[in-house]
Amino acid sequence: MTDIITILGIESSCDDTAAAVVQRINGKALVLSSVVVGQEILHEAYGGVVPEIAARAHAEQLDIAVEKALVQSDIKLEHVDAIAVTSGPGLIGGVVSGVMCAKGLAAGINKPLIGINHLVGHALTPRMTDTISYPYLMLLVSGGHCQFLAVLSETEFDRIGGTIDDAPGEAFDKTAKLLGLGYPGGPLVEKAAKNGDPTRFKFPRPLLDRPDCNMSFSGLKTALRRARDLLVKEKGGISYQDQSDLCASFQIAVADTLAEKANRAIDIFKKTTDSKNFAVAGGVAANTVIKKELENIAQKHNFTLLSPPLKYCTDNAAMIAWAGIERYSAGLVDDMTLAARPRWPIDHKAKPMLGSGKKGAKA
Ligand code: KG4
Ligand code: ZN
Repeated sequence: MTDIITILGIESSCDDTAAAVVQRINGKALVLSSVVVGQEILHEAYGGVVPEIAARAHAEQLDIAVEKALVQSDIKLEHVDAIAVTSGPGLIGGVVSGVMCAKGLAAGINKPLIGINHLVGHALTPRMTDTISYPYLMLLVSGGHCQFLAVLSETEFDRIGGTIDDAPGEAFDKTAKLLGLGYPGGPLVEKAAKNGDPTRFKFPRPLLDRPDCNMSFSGLKTALRRARDLLVKEKGGISYQDQSDLCASFQIAVADTLAEKANRAIDIFKKTTDSKNFAVAGGVAANTVIKKELENIAQKHNFTLLSPPLKYCTDNAAMIAWAGIERYSAGLVDDMTLAARPRWPIDHKAKPMLGSGKKGAKA
C-alpha cells in the first residue's frame, strides 16, 4: 500500500515569507511547491534586517504565499494532513505572524498543527534532499546561525560547537556594508573577492587556539574595519583593488576558521558513530571558497559532504513542511496552545551560547 503524508509548511522567522507543500511517498520526499517571497528590497537601505519592517511584510505576504503554494502544488488545503509552521527561534513579530496564520488554517480544516524549530528545519533538510539516515554531522551556517550538530533523530541533536557572537553570514553582510557593496553582502563579497589577493591582509582566525568547536566572527569585522580605516588614512580612500583584496582576505579567514573547526567536529563525531555523512546548509553554504575548503576536510576524513540545492539551503518552507512530516509520522503534533518562541535551543542539554546577533538568537 502507498504511504503518503502531505504537509503544508509555513516559514516567516527572518526576512523570507515562505510556504510549501511537501509529500513523503513511501519514504521519499516530493516537493510539490516551494514559494519564497524575499524582503531584500525593504531592508537594503539599512544594510540588515529591520524586525518591525519584516514583521509587517510577513503579515501582508503570508496568505498570498500560502495560496500560491497550494495552487502550484495542485493540492486543496483540506487535503493536507497537517500544517507545519516555524514557531521559533527568530524575530518574534514574524514568527507570531506565521503561527497565527497556521492556527487559522489548521482550525479552518480541523487538521493538526505542528510547531517546528527553524534550526531543526535546516538540520533535517539533507534527509529530504538526499534521503540519508540518522545520524549525520551538520554545519548550519547562515546569516543567523552557525553551529555544528550531530543529528541523531528528528528530536535529538547534539551541539558540538557554535559561534559565540556573530554568524558568518552576518559578518559577510557587515563587511559588505563597511565597504559600501550593498545587501545581502555574502554574494557581493564573494564576487569582489574573485579579483582579490587573499594573502594581502592577515585577518585573525578566531578561537583556533582553543581545542573546542566554538567560533567567533565579530573580531574579524573589527579587524577589517581597522584595515579599511588605515587605507583611508594613508591614501585618502580605498581603490577597487583594495576592496577586492579586503574581501578575499576576509573570506579566506572565514573559510579557514570553518574548515579547521569542521576538522575537529568530524573528529568528535567519528568517536560516536560509523556514519560518514557531513551536511552543510544555510546561505553561507553558497560560497564556493568555503564549500571547497569543507569538501577538502570531508575528503581527508573519508566523509561525504552533502550540500542540498541552494533553494533548500537558504530559508524556505519546504524544509519546514519536511520537518513537519518527520514529526507527524512520529505522532508529534501540537494544538492551539502552540506558542511563538524568540529563543529555542535545538540541543536542550547544551549550555546557552553567548550573545545574540541582529538576526536573532543563535542557539
Ligand atoms: O540561510 P539564509 O538565507 O538566511 C538566514 O540568515 O537564516 O542566509 C542568508 C545569509 C546572508 O547573511 C548572506 O549574506 C549569506 O547568507 N550568503 C553568503 C553567500 N550567499 C548568501 N555568504 C557568503 N557567500 C555567499 N555566496
Ligand atoms: Zn535559517
